[in-house]
Amino acid sequence: MTQVYPTHDDTSGSPSVLVRKDADWPRIGGQELQDMLTIESASLEDAPTMLDIQRRAFAEEGRRVGSLEDGQQIPPLAESLESIIEHIQTQTALVARDDERIVGAVRGIVTDQACVIRGLVVDIGYQGRGVGSALLQALERKLAQVSRFDLTTNMLMENNVTFYERHGYRLAEVTHHSPKRIPLAQMTKRVAPAISGA
Ligand SMILES: CC(C)(COP(=O)(O)OP(=O)(O)OC[C@H]1O[C@@H](n2cnc3c(N)ncnc32)[C@H](O)[C@@H]1OP(=O)(O)O)[C@@H](O)C(=O)NCCC(=O)NCCS
Repeated sequence: MTQVYPTHDDTSGSPSVLVRKDADWPRIGGQELQDMLTIESASLEDAPTMLDIQRRAFAEEGRRVGSLEDGQQIPPLAESLESIIEHIQTQTALVARDDERIVGAVRGIVTDQACVIRGLVVDIGYQGRGVGSALLQALERKLAQVSRFDLTTNMLMENNVTFYERHGYRLAEVTHHSPKRIPLAQMTKRVAPAISGA
């Protein structure tokens, strides 16, 4: 089983989380992979790769849902590069790297005491190996000042709700995106905010 554990101080600029990889991690281009993944703040040049991974990761959900009533794709597939760039500049955006290669990402949008989690994605082939869990935990640690994390996830993807429940999120409400009535889980995790300077 993949082990996930915190290491360095989040504010130091060093990788915030390392994930020890199993022996069966995928090999890319026939090369040996490093022993560890790192998670760190995204830089502007990471934005196109974050968008590519997001599009691949949400392709199956997009296929299941089809186009929305306005002809648009689901929000993670319709999101623009500019939106991700803005979040990197103004919010908290993290990437997981396998050596130099970005294999996952997450963003946290903070308003007052609440954080909305956006774009938690792990590249195809790296899913189910602890990367998404590590990204979520790293984001929560990095935003220790908030008292609540909120997110929306599509219940057509049967593993999503249990994934977040395992991380302490609770189903607050089920809404339906009309007219297709796509079931959306509104999930929340309440936390005791860290007192700054304590
Ligand atoms: C959901 C997601 C971020 C989870 O990251 P991950 O690295 O695959 O997950 P982890 O390895 O940390 O945890 C594994 C658990 O995640 C859940 N999970 C959800 N989607 C999964 C997927 N496509 N593949 C594997 N596990 C998935 C399972 O419950 C799994 O539990 P199990 O090991 O008991 O089967 C990732 O699978 C992904 O990018 N999916 C597509 C995009 C998406 O749906 N994002 C979240 C929407 S809000």
